[in-house]
Amino acid sequence: MTNACGVDFGTSNSTVGWIKPGTTPGQALGGAHALLSLEDGKATLPSVVFFNADDEEVRYGRAALADYLAGYEGRLMRSMKSLLGTSLMDGQTEVAGRALPFRVLLAQFIGEVKRRAEGQAGRGFEHAVFGRPVFFIDDNPAADKLAEDTLLAVARGAGFREVAFQYEPIAAAFDYESQIDREELVLIADIGGGTSDFSLVRLGPGRAGKPERRDDILATGGVHIGGTDFDKYLSLASVMPLLGYRSALRSGAEIPSSYYFNLATWHTINQAYTRKSIVQLDDLVRDAREPAKLARLQHLIEERAGHWLAMQVEGAKIGLSDAASVRLELDRLAPPESLSVERATFEAAIGQLLDAIDTTVLRLLADAGVKPGDVDTVFFTGGSSGVGLLRQRIGALVPDARKVEGDLFGSIGAGLALDAQRKFG
Ligand SMILES: Nc1ncnc2c1ncn2[C@@H]1O[C@H](COP(=O)(O)OP(=O)(O)OP(=O)(O)O)[C@@H](O)[C@H]1O
Ligand SMILES: [Mg+2]
Repeated sequence: MTNACGVDFGTSNSTVGWIKPGTTPGQALGGAHALLSLEDGKATLPSVVFFNADDEEVRYGRAALADYLAGYEGRLMRSMKSLLGTSLMDGQTEVAGRALPFRVLLAQFIGEVKRRAEGQAGRGFEHAVFGRPVFFIDDNPAADKLAEDTLLAVARGAGFREVAFQYEPIAAAFDYESQIDREELVLIADIGGGTSDFSLVRLGPGRAGKPERRDDILATGGVHIGGTDFDKYLSLASVMPLLGYRSALRSGAEIPSSYYFNLATWHTINQAYTRKSIVQLDDLVRDAREPAKLARLQHLIEERAGHWLAMQVEGAKIGLSDAASVRLELDRLAPPESLSVERATFEAAIGQLLDAIDTTVLRLLADAGVKPGDVDTVFFTGGSSGVGLLRQRIGALVPDARKVEGDLFGSIGAGLALDAQRKFG
């Protein structure tokens, strides 16, 4: 049968995993074998859609980013997963007289992921296990359910007849389990683009084949904080002040921060381009004490360069995982600016987010009644576990545990493939 796959629809990147018929457990080691290539031989497809208004075509992934950066007239959408469960999901963005409902863009993306995976596997996929964060939305069960229901409806609309959901940090656990040869109590830490998800699980070769794993899952937890939030706070700390964030009006009041928050947050960048927002900004510029900064903001909005700026900030953040300082060449600003960004600035900007992540892990341990010393291993996955300070801080909560870094972008999809095989055969 094996017409079932695992779909990791991520805030930033998506993958599809599939256990090929005849694969022995040994061959599945490391999980990466299970991933189908979704774009140019790569397993990840960035969760990005670009509606190109010149040819009325929709582009996906890296090709979408390339079209946008090349300056084609159109509209870019990233972080669509962050809309799930919020009223923004029912909204739309407009370009060249066309209304683009976010729900339609999301459905097109999931449909494209399915088509590409099927093309690679050489078969149709009727069943799928979709990953989901432990909480799509924090502290709001109704909104969280709406998020899952919306994703379910989109998956069904794309042609998956049967859809099951699995927590992303449990999927990662299954991937890690396929690589170990003894029993361990493991803290799984999946720090992605939108959420940080955790599970505390008993794993081992003797347990892997069991049909029911409920007793092995001691606790799951999560918080809606991820790499896109790191981008936002780094943006507000470093580049938004160049555009007038925190500057004053002649009345002495501060410029409303909403323009800057919208532009610094991946899934709300397009809100800065609405006519209403642009007209209000025109009025503000006349009253600004530092009109040159606001003129820069207006220029950026006119050029629809919000995603470009966010990409520069994200690039700086990733650079700071290796270097203590990076240079940002902001050549699309008017006038252009060259800026040095220090790791210390980044770490200070995300300090409160890291506190909240620590709290989530401590609560997880308490929920499970597990002492830090009992945890054998911490398994890190998700692109944002590239942030060294974050790994150190989570590691410090379970000081004696071994630290293992998985495939940061592939573990969830590989684990979902194993789960799909188990659930759908
Ligand atoms: N080396 C790095 N250092 C820090 N952050 C990184 C690094 N590489 C990638 N990232 C960040 O990782 C995030 C993407 O990670 P990933 O693909 O695991 O997320 P996702 O699965 O799409 O999101 P989620 O699971 O939360 O829905 C982005 O915010 C990206 O900027
Ligand atoms: Mg993820």
